[in-house]
Amino acid sequence: MARFGSGMKLYEKLVHDIATAIRAGILAPGEKLPSVRQACLNHKLSPATIFKAYYELENLGLIRAQPKSGYYVSHHAIKTIPAPSKPVTQQESTAVNVSDLVFSILSSIKNAATVPLGSAFPWPALFPLERLSRSLARATKHMGAADIVESLPPGNQDLRRQIAKRYLMQGIEADVDRIVITNGAFEALNLCLEAVTKPGDLVAIESPAFYGCLQALERLQLKAVEIPVDPVLGMDLEYLEQMLEKCPIRACWSMTSLQNPLGASMPTERKRALVELVTRYQIPLIEDDVYGELHFSAQQHQPAKAFDREGYVMHCSSFSKTLAPGYRVGWTLPGRYEQEVERLKVITSLSTSTIAQAAIADYLQHGGYDRHLRKLRAQFELQQHHYLHLVAQHFPADTCVTRPHGGYFLWVALPEHVDVLRLFREALAQGVSIAPGPIFSVRHQYAHCIRLNYSQPVDADVEQAFRTLGRFIAEQG
Ligand SMILES: Cc1ncc(COP(=O)(O)O)c(C=O)c1O
Repeated sequence: MARFGSGMKLYEKLVHDIATAIRAGILAPGEKLPSVRQACLNHKLSPATIFKAYYELENLGLIRAQPKSGYYVSHHAIKTIPAPSKPVTQQESTAVNVSDLVFSILSSIKNAATVPLGSAFPWPALFPLERLSRSLARATKHMGAADIVESLPPGNQDLRRQIAKRYLMQGIEADVDRIVITNGAFEALNLCLEAVTKPGDLVAIESPAFYGCLQALERLQLKAVEIPVDPVLGMDLEYLEQMLEKCPIRACWSMTSLQNPLGASMPTERKRALVELVTRYQIPLIEDDVYGELHFSAQQHQPAKAFDREGYVMHCSSFSKTLAPGYRVGWTLPGRYEQEVERLKVITSLSTSTIAQAAIADYLQHGGYDRHLRKLRAQFELQQHHYLHLVAQHFPADTCVTRPHGGYFLWVALPEHVDVLRLFREALAQGVSIAPGPIFSVRHQYAHCIRLNYSQPVDADVEQAFRTLGRFIAEQG
């Protein structure tokens, strides 16, 4: 089967292009699609390929066939959710206490037999495990006694060089000596936060936020000032500025690209404005960029770090979402706070596994990482269409859902009366996990929202999982 450059088959590329045009409103409901004959001419494809694409689009519920007339864009529409409302001002800072809820939910969804719609990780079968194990074997074979010491913080020199090279390809100058290797992005984020705060300090965070951010604040006894996130544009900068003016905020934590859970990516100008804002207020911006490489666009969007002239951005990322969660290899470019972060790294965990660092360095050099990424992105993009269709098929008509331009999460706002903690318990008992909205907020907001992971290819189990969720949601109605 012929393939398009991204790793997609030709009909998949056509499905993707038409689905994207429909969801972007370029092809309107009721509009007629080109006939199969015309489409063959337009795309220089065979009738069989066009039929296969149209059949798939029909399966997705995006088009319908009208006998003797042709194919039309169907009238069912996928809506985007409105931005969450701004936090009320008398609650401008909140002590964080989410551990019990987050722990009980995360530990209950670990069971390998559940359909992991609530998982934070990509579907494991998508990782190049065989290729990685070859890199691991090579790294072990070539490891000398001296390497064990050389991998102490800031970390393996080859790995840092490979990481710096990737930034350079994006037009970002990253000094090899100022990259600190960590145990995943989570350690990087925790070290950065610890380096710039003391107990009782206020930190501006997103709402909804990655629950790991809430856990980090709780561990360090920090208070959260929640800044609303628009599902498309990201953090509300105007509100952030008002809060910076009003209260003594010591740091800001943001996912500027493919935010978890909303999938929002700040446009370049807003990222630049965010960096200018924190620089003006002289506070660090802890930038979590773990999903940055999973964009669907032709080019990766630059992170806020690209606009950082004075070192206020503490940029963090890892290979956990793209390559190998279990290797626990992440990094940070902590800017002007580099020394504090490196010292904290030594005090808290001394080093990141020498062998894991060397294996990832070898993979980056020889393993075909970019090819793997292209395939992964293409797969996630196609699967997003399938999962959106399942949402439209099984959830109530007034459900709203995001359509992120990357990553593998959908944020679904169910009708307001739906209690997602109840839904979580009922679904889990039937072997289906979801990530309930309240774990993404210090005040346990978003009680009718869920985050769904769409990295698992749709099969009978996934379809059954959606039927189960749809049934429990209907029972609450
Ligand atoms: C937004 C976000 N940041 C950071 C992390 C942690 O990444 P790592 O596994 O590299 O520690 C996760 C993992 O779920 C995440 O979703």
